[in-house]
Amino acid sequence: MCGIFGYVGKRPKISSVILNGLKKLEYRGYDSWGISVKNKGILEVEKHTGKIENARIRLPGSNLGIGHTRWATHGKVTTANAHPHLDCTGKIALVHNGIIENFQELKRVLAGKGHIFQSETDTEVAVHLIEEYVKKDGFAISVRQAFQKLKGLNAIVACYAPSAEIVAAKNGSPLIVGVGRNEFFIASDATGIVDNTKKVVFLNDHQMAILGMTLKIIQLKNGKQIKPQVTLLDWKFEKAKKGKFKHFLLKEIHEQPKVIEHIAYNHSSYVKQLAKLVNVAFGTFMVGCGTASYAALAGTYLFSSVAKKHVNFTIGSEFNYLEDYLTPDSLIVAFSQSGETIDVIEPVSNAKRRGAKIAVVVNTLGSTLYRQADYKFLLGAGPEKAVVATKSFIAKIALLILTAHELSDKQSEGKKLLVGAAKNVVEILKKRYVEKIQALAKELKNVKHIYLIGRGLSYVSCLEAALKIKETSYTHAEGFAGGELKHGAIALIEKGTPCIVFAPNDETYEAIASNAQELKARGGFIVGIGPRDNSVFDRFFKTANLKHATMIPQIVIAQLLAYHLAISKGISDPDKPRNLAKSVTVR
Ligand code: G6P
Repeated sequence: MCGIFGYVGKRPKISSVILNGLKKLEYRGYDSWGISVKNKGILEVEKHTGKIENARIRLPGSNLGIGHTRWATHGKVTTANAHPHLDCTGKIALVHNGIIENFQELKRVLAGKGHIFQSETDTEVAVHLIEEYVKKDGFAISVRQAFQKLKGLNAIVACYAPSAEIVAAKNGSPLIVGVGRNEFFIASDATGIVDNTKKVVFLNDHQMAILGMTLKIIQLKNGKQIKPQVTLLDWKFEKAKKGKFKHFLLKEIHEQPKVIEHIAYNHSSYVKQLAKLVNVAFGTFMVGCGTASYAALAGTYLFSSVAKKHVNFTIGSEFNYLEDYLTPDSLIVAFSQSGETIDVIEPVSNAKRRGAKIAVVVNTLGSTLYRQADYKFLLGAGPEKAVVATKSFIAKIALLILTAHELSDKQSEGKKLLVGAAKNVVEILKKRYVEKIQALAKELKNVKHIYLIGRGLSYVSCLEAALKIKETSYTHAEGFAGGELKHGAIALIEKGTPCIVFAPNDETYEAIASNAQELKARGGFIVGIGPRDNSVFDRFFKTANLKHATMIPQIVIAQLLAYHLAISKGISDPDKPRNLAKSVTVR
């Protein structure tokens, strides 16, 4: 969350380099953005609210500057709260990713010393703190001293008018230095840098970097300089282009048959390795956030039902409070598209300190989780640009279906189900099928609430489907276990309330159909999704009968419904829903 980009070198007009870097990082936050460059010994700043899109900048030519794209944590979305922030003298500019947990205390002390604050952010204390130290010490030392006073998981990048250096420090939030020819870049992740150079230095926690004529990496604790470890990124960044599609979200939904086939045909050895790890572990814990958490939850159902294997599930942000029982025999399987979600990284780091084995299933090579893991499983779903996750989820589900089958020595059966799912998704993506979904979206465009029910694996489907509908179309949607609705939430059903029922052709069918009857008896408008129609359904969306893989077409139908609901409601940019960010690096 929040994207940082900085440059120092020989190029004369670097504001456009920084702007391009920020565009690449915009998935980390798109509330507001800003750039500061050094020009003739003075720092010039330009800040804007809203997305970068086709922005043109007015800043003068410069060869040193920093930029930021924001996802608001402290303080509303205003130009004043956008980064970079300046100190009282206007000579220090700073961008930040993270949360300064003790900012109120620091702000009180700094205000007492006469510092004037221009924003409501936690960030601004950092720049005033540096200002205090720089009165007595050099710039880099001042940044180090100031950073050590900050509590929480943070990354800061700062520049100082009299200095030809950019100074960065990190603990928790990611920072990567790009090493060019007589030039250096610094960014929240490699996507911001890789167009310029493939040589990078991953900054570790409790380290700082000084970028100028040379690159210095320094340990924050003792101030000792260490040799930068340069990594060559020999991975190709696939260019993510919308092509014929209006939005990345739609494009990524359409890529799913290929993603499923890719996993079915190419992930056999990954799956064997993951299954082996689960088999020998004494306690496996599946962890993830948001959509990735639903993949992890699906894993518990799949492993139980297909492989008769118990695994635990926890959402990332709660795992910290449930780790006391971890031992070196425990296995953590962390799921994350980005590999940068702090709510996953933090408990995984704690588990690692306890000696637990760490396996990660991520879509992003070189990400923090990827680097932290003992065992790395790449999804290979290709870049996912839309904030709303689609193909990365389906990729995780496909990998889990295969792994569950491998655990019971039936990988080829799992593979067949996936191939069938890919074929069925191709059918669903055809014009006639989509038109039916569009028609339903039009019918539902004015509703305030949608309820979804399912049992077993389909319970997970309805949680994920509800999330897609909420974040894409801003319609309140809630998923329930079919059996649970009658214990309270059924009070919300009235005449015409849309209820989506996930009804695969498995042991849950009869019971979920009865639950649908209960909803209908209270006026519910029932939409069924599954291989078998039922008289209780007012609308029916047929999927192939694919046992555990029926979940895949069910989810694709829900993704399309969410997308077309957003379009019917006139939401202009479903790729970047309000208030969200693709990569959430604050806890
Ligand atoms: C954010 C995104 C979600 C995503 C979640 C986990 O909340 O908006 O779409 O599911 O982070 O992201 P990850 O990269 O760890 O899968």
